[in-house]
Amino acid sequence: MKQAFRGSVLHFLGDPTESGRADTFEYHEDGLLIVEDGHVAGLGNARALLPTLHGAAALTDCTGKLIVPGFIDGHIHFVQTDVIASYGRRLLDWLEQYTFPAERAFADEVHAREVARFFIAELLRNGTTTALVVGSVHPASVDAVFEAALARDMRLIAGKALMDRNCPEYLRDTAASGYADSAALIERWHGRGRMQYAITPRFAPSSTPEQLAAAGRLAREHPDVYVHTHVAENEEEVAWAKELFPERRSYLDIYDHYGLLRRRTALAHGIWLDDADLARVAATGAALVHCPACNLFLGSGLFDLRRAVAAGVPVALGTDVGGGTTFCMLRVLHEAYKVAQLRGISLSPHLAFYLATLGAARALDLDGRIGSFATGREADFIVLDPAATPLLARRTATARNISEKLFLLMTLGDDRAVARTYLMGKLRHDRDARDSAPGQGK
Ligand code: GUN
Ligand code: ZN
Repeated sequence: MKQAFRGSVLHFLGDPTESGRADTFEYHEDGLLIVEDGHVAGLGNARALLPTLHGAAALTDCTGKLIVPGFIDGHIHFVQTDVIASYGRRLLDWLEQYTFPAERAFADEVHAREVARFFIAELLRNGTTTALVVGSVHPASVDAVFEAALARDMRLIAGKALMDRNCPEYLRDTAASGYADSAALIERWHGRGRMQYAITPRFAPSSTPEQLAAAGRLAREHPDVYVHTHVAENEEEVAWAKELFPERRSYLDIYDHYGLLRRRTALAHGIWLDDADLARVAATGAALVHCPACNLFLGSGLFDLRRAVAAGVPVALGTDVGGGTTFCMLRVLHEAYKVAQLRGISLSPHLAFYLATLGAARALDLDGRIGSFATGREADFIVLDPAATPLLARRTATARNISEKLFLLMTLGDDRAVARTYLMGKLRHDRDARDSAPGQGK
């Protein structure tokens, strides 16, 4: 089936921070995105392309709106949907007081399925078409989130948390059971539809050396599976990790020692990594996931994007719900802008949107499939409304170019600016549909 979508269309071809590249994005003010059998089949100027279709494509008019690749959320906890906006704690106390008790509830599969359906609907409502997801320690929590994604043919990477110490007894697995449960989940889910698995040691302090060694063994046995964890988020956490693994040079070195740094490893945060650590992340092909909304909410620190980019580290962005306070990547871009300001740089809107789309796809080794409108990519895209609110409409009316429009969207926009979300060319969220109540499956 052939489809065509007419509107302003933007996507990235390369990294805007690479000097000497003038062609890092493609923008058509009056553009046409052509989709065939769920994949991108063409992109160009609408007036030029429409006659070539000879009326053989279903045309959707998005005039006045901006079509961009769907957002990629590089780090989010689906089991923390109901932890969001919990008052008054920093990371380690926040885990004890709010997060672990909330995750306990995922021993109940009915609860897990209900939250998973809400979670996937909420991602789509916010324009996120791919996410890298942390589950609870319970394997059934991962079944639930994969099932909800599979029902919508959504691309998702997820894994069960491995945690066998320094957490409540009721949330503990063991090195052996964590290994066996992860292996079974890989067997069941990795490569099924658009599902991919991530081996997910929660963070070094909540795994024994035996468990990290088992995770490393799994990573070696499954080189195309992801590795997903947290690193160097908060100063107390860094000190604790060093205390627990005194023989390791740094927190990052713990993961390195157990063979957990490689391409397809995603490390959330990395605020407190030193230069040697950053060089090591870059050398191994691992990626950092910057989660500014969470970092500000938990008071963890200010990620230095410039340093990471200069070190050659691939960077994605994440909401990190529920330490993060939003499902919306536009809000995350806004927070990333403010964090960068406090670090003395201005995050350009082009770089921000690149990081949320093609940059994240590259960081996660998925750019052959998603993140841009290159021919053959999966047609996961969103339709943004630059006039979604009275204030956005008023300010956008004076925007002189696409750069200013993007900056307004990331500064003033939120879920209201996401008019539609498409997965493989299929409409999966329509803001203006009367029956699109949040959390209701479609
Ligand atoms: N470090 C270990 N677990 C977590 C978590 O659930 N959220 C965040 N933000 N950091 C963590
Ligand atoms: Zn997290």
